[in-house]
Amino acid sequence: MPKSPDLMEKIISLCKRRGFIFPSSEIYGGLGSAYDYGPLGVELKNNIKKAWWKMMVQSRNDMVGLDASILMSSKVWQASGHLENFTDPLVECKSCHKRFKLDELENEKKCPECGGELTGVKRFNLMMKTFLGPVEDAKAISYLRPETCQGIYVDFETILNATRKKIPFGVAQIGKAFRNEITPKNFTYRTREFEQMEMQYFVHPQEADKWFDYWQDQRMKWYSGLGIKKENIKFSPHKKHELAHYAKQGMDVVYKFPFGENEIEGIHNRGDWDLSQHGKYSGKELKYKDDNYKEPFYPYVIETSGGIDRSALAFLLNAYEEVKGGRTTTTESNKEMEVVLRLHEDLAPYKVAVLPLSKKPELSKLAKDIYASLRPQFMAVYDDVASIGRRYRRQDEIGTPCCVTVDFESLSDKKVTVRDRDTMKQDRVFIKELNSYLQNKLG
Ligand code: GAP
Repeated sequence: MPKSPDLMEKIISLCKRRGFIFPSSEIYGGLGSAYDYGPLGVELKNNIKKAWWKMMVQSRNDMVGLDASILMSSKVWQASGHLENFTDPLVECKSCHKRFKLDELENEKKCPECGGELTGVKRFNLMMKTFLGPVEDAKAISYLRPETCQGIYVDFETILNATRKKIPFGVAQIGKAFRNEITPKNFTYRTREFEQMEMQYFVHPQEADKWFDYWQDQRMKWYSGLGIKKENIKFSPHKKHELAHYAKQGMDVVYKFPFGENEIEGIHNRGDWDLSQHGKYSGKELKYKDDNYKEPFYPYVIETSGGIDRSALAFLLNAYEEVKGGRTTTTESNKEMEVVLRLHEDLAPYKVAVLPLSKKPELSKLAKDIYASLRPQFMAVYDDVASIGRRYRRQDEIGTPCCVTVDFESLSDKKVTVRDRDTMKQDRVFIKELNSYLQNKLG
């Protein structure tokens, strides 16, 4: 396995080469903090979202979904405390004028780039400001949401009325969020535009601790169920001074990235901060009423807030393996280092590749028919370019769990060979049973 910083470079290169992730606006020199998900990246990202939605919403009867707008009334950000508190400590070098986040500097007085003197600290608000409509005045100011969850609080009453849910219950949502980060870095780890998968679970205040523990357990199971190795992931509790302005308690899910152990998801006990603030600022009654309780009250919120970009990066790094030769059957490749992306089958962009042994018309016809029959059920790819060994390697490198080889014998015995990415086991399967064979294997 490559050394850590090296691994990051390898992943970035693989992501570009194979069309997972690459810099945005690259023909204009890139933006430095925005990335595009290419044909394979969008599949991976969609698969992460699908797995999250399945676990968090579809498989539960105490959860509903929401897709709130990115633009919201600016009063939302006043009430939520983001206008006042969602800031980072910023310092500027008096010589080279580069700006830094104070808490990332080893020496708070000296510029890490040129050694120049640094200014005093300013609080820099991370929200992205814009104007709604043609007049750019104070009344038109709006913000791109810095977290998706505020939509859930603002819609709390409407959702309750529509669904008649009783606590404990949750609302889940996936969507883009924006932060004007001072120092975006580490590929997709810290960007200014990113995607969150957030869930807010409304509970009786006395049960908040229990549910805080429960959701930590659930979220860890989700990551490990999708193949994150035990040694790569852990919890890290927030110290008091690290807590966000809305949080009573916080727990990070931390991944061991090549550039250090860093948060991929935050789990928070937000108390009644958000609902009571929105109640106060909107003048609406947002207390929860239920015959089981004597008085209306503000439920507490347990939040799970994961980043899709960060988890996609973690899943890619976690899956990356270099194997010394011999995986493919061709002699020319036996000694080369081969890359295998051992992504969980639910996350792999393609589930199955169809590979005819030659381009002869009779084989192509059969292979294309097989490919067409698989596509309604599985995300599949067809590849007939280069030697079979090279094609296996191409699929290994992008994490395709199954390769189906169509050879000349297939024409007479009506069977194909299915090769498993991880075990390398090859099964000879009747073409007419291929769909159900793959269904069993891939779920
Ligand atoms: N609603 C709570 C909240 O937003 P957070 O810890 O600030 O909590 C949650 O963010 C998650 O969002 C993080 O764990 C991370 O995965 C993702 N995230 C936050 N800022 C990000 C950034 N600049 N780039 C990429 N992902 C980010």
